[in-house]
Amino acid sequence: MTTIHDLKKKKQSGEKLTCLTAYDASFAHMLHEAGVEILLVGDSLGMVLQGQETTLPVTLNEMIYHANAVKRGAPNAFIVVDLPFISYASPELALKNAGKVMKSASANMVKLEGGTAMLETVALLSSRGIPVCAHLGLLPQSVHKTGGYRVQGKTEDAANQLLEDAIALEKAGADMLVLECVPAGLAKRVTESVEMPVIGIGAGVDCDGQVLVLYDMLAITKGKRPKFSKDFMQGQSNIVDAIKSYVSAVKKAEFPAIEHSF
Ligand code: KIV
Repeated sequence: MTTIHDLKKKKQSGEKLTCLTAYDASFAHMLHEAGVEILLVGDSLGMVLQGQETTLPVTLNEMIYHANAVKRGAPNAFIVVDLPFISYASPELALKNAGKVMKSASANMVKLEGGTAMLETVALLSSRGIPVCAHLGLLPQSVHKTGGYRVQGKTEDAANQLLEDAIALEKAGADMLVLECVPAGLAKRVTESVEMPVIGIGAGVDCDGQVLVLYDMLAITKGKRPKFSKDFMQGQSNIVDAIKSYVSAVKKAEFPAIEHSF
């Protein structure tokens, strides 16, 4: 059974961490057997499973339903579950809903999006024994506010703010951080400035680990694949081999390459 302690030890020793999204028991089992250390029950399921335009319509009960399926498929995996849009709009609501996810879906950690605005919430959850993965950079739940899926932290001010946010989130009690779509140089600065593992998606090779949306890297997502993803089915004859090739590429720091980075 992987623990947050094991993940932190790997960061300290320089071993890269592997993470992929999982939404059901069969894929969860495959991912765990192929050596993926962290399974993220992402609210991206709203887009890739439900066919929604954004992640916003996903409900807490849907997240719990999928998290339970993932847990049944991979009972010993380290499972992170996204708190969906507005389910953590206040610290008290976050405690109630994160508690539900931990109790009824046996999650190892919950994930929430945001920086300064989330400090009080992260501190409350952490003080009640709920491990939190923060999420900075591109925040899919804020897509209507930010006006699209764009690379974040490009100006000096924005980069400094993101770095400050990461440090403050760790001080508040966050145990892990997802960094989405930020310049590789900024991701490296953040990774070196915090002790918690930093898992990148579109954030360059210097993060402590990588995550991708499973359906993107298996090339079964409809439409154009994001620049930061890669078709790992290419050259493989089955899904397990594709997942193993992702694990190997991340461990050897061969993925992401320059062409997958900003
Ligand atoms: O929901 C999700 O799949 C995510 C990843 C993109 C990190 O949050």
